[in-house]
Amino acid sequence: MRKTVAILDNDVHTRLQLTHALQGTYRVDAHSSMQSLVGAAQVERPSLILVGATVGDIAGVAVARDINREKRCVGIPIVYIADKQDTRIREQLTMAGIKTIMVKPIDDKLLLAFAGKLITAEIERGWEELPRFQRKALEETIAVFNGVARDLANGRAPEMGPIAEACSALVDVVAQKELGPLLDKIRSHDNFTYVHSMRFAAFIALFARSIGLPKPMQVQVACGGLLHDVGMMTIPQHLVNKQDALTPAEWKQMQSHVESGSRLLAAMGPSSKGVQIILAQHHERLDGSGYPRGLKGDQLNELARMAAIIDVFCGLTDRRPYKTPLSPNAAFEMMANTMAGKLDLDLLPKFRSILLEYVYTDEELREAS
Ligand SMILES: [Fe+2]
Ligand SMILES: [Fe+2]
Repeated sequence: MRKTVAILDNDVHTRLQLTHALQGTYRVDAHSSMQSLVGAAQVERPSLILVGATVGDIAGVAVARDINREKRCVGIPIVYIADKQDTRIREQLTMAGIKTIMVKPIDDKLLLAFAGKLITAEIERGWEELPRFQRKALEETIAVFNGVARDLANGRAPEMGPIAEACSALVDVVAQKELGPLLDKIRSHDNFTYVHSMRFAAFIALFARSIGLPKPMQVQVACGGLLHDVGMMTIPQHLVNKQDALTPAEWKQMQSHVESGSRLLAAMGPSSKGVQIILAQHHERLDGSGYPRGLKGDQLNELARMAAIIDVFCGLTDRRPYKTPLSPNAAFEMMANTMAGKLDLDLLPKFRSILLEYVYTDEELREAS
């Protein structure tokens, strides 16, 4: 589900501009009074509140201060949209604990970047409720994930060492059979590729453990899971987030994430065969209909087959702004009914029983979350 950003501002032009900048990424809700915002927050808590210079007939500074004290809005980050630089207003806001101020004219891209940063920071603060070893796995994996994105943006090859360390923390959580709370907590994160990759990494590490592979190998396959879609970081964002059907050319470009992922992995230095297989073969299908190489049957070993199952399962059960996730059970049913011949249907029930043993109760497998 999309996160909601609430806007409180009398000025129609500002409201329109802010809405225009944000609505591709967030659900935007405009309010004319604090009461209306608080009422709406009881139904759907906004992830961010933007407050302009005047709200109704009250100064925005006073409104922002009151929202910050309102118990139903505690913890929601607030951005004050100022008409001009004003030291007095800045001091008043700082005293009320509101540190983020943007001065008009507002740059759309900057606003979007600010919103993303504040919302993400708030989500990650929620991780503090987890036991230390679970929190460690999340903090370390998001740090390396962001680090990989930064390295690629700067034309540098990421290093495998820190990725393996972060995945070792994840494997420790797997060993304690404590994956449920961790996976629950990351569901609301707004970096969808991270969430997808983390779920994939956790599930493939579980699989490795269940077939008796030792910890170092569990860590390796977890690295493969975390990096399996690293090639997606080279695909333009508008394509990754496109909600309409892709054109054949766009589809080809999307598929290229597998080969660019493998190239990036090679540039990162030596890696195990398992990691290479996960990156290169998670879209291959047993009947040869997959990509990029159209491998089939015996050309795909158990790890490649499990990677394909996990990728489809995660895709069907991941939360995305434009679709309702399937419950794990509905996903298993759909895979068994519509992907026979493509996926290994002997491994599929094994994966389901691993999830039942380590992650979900029977009831949770039936519920979409
Ligand atoms: Fe992929
Ligand atoms: Fe994937």
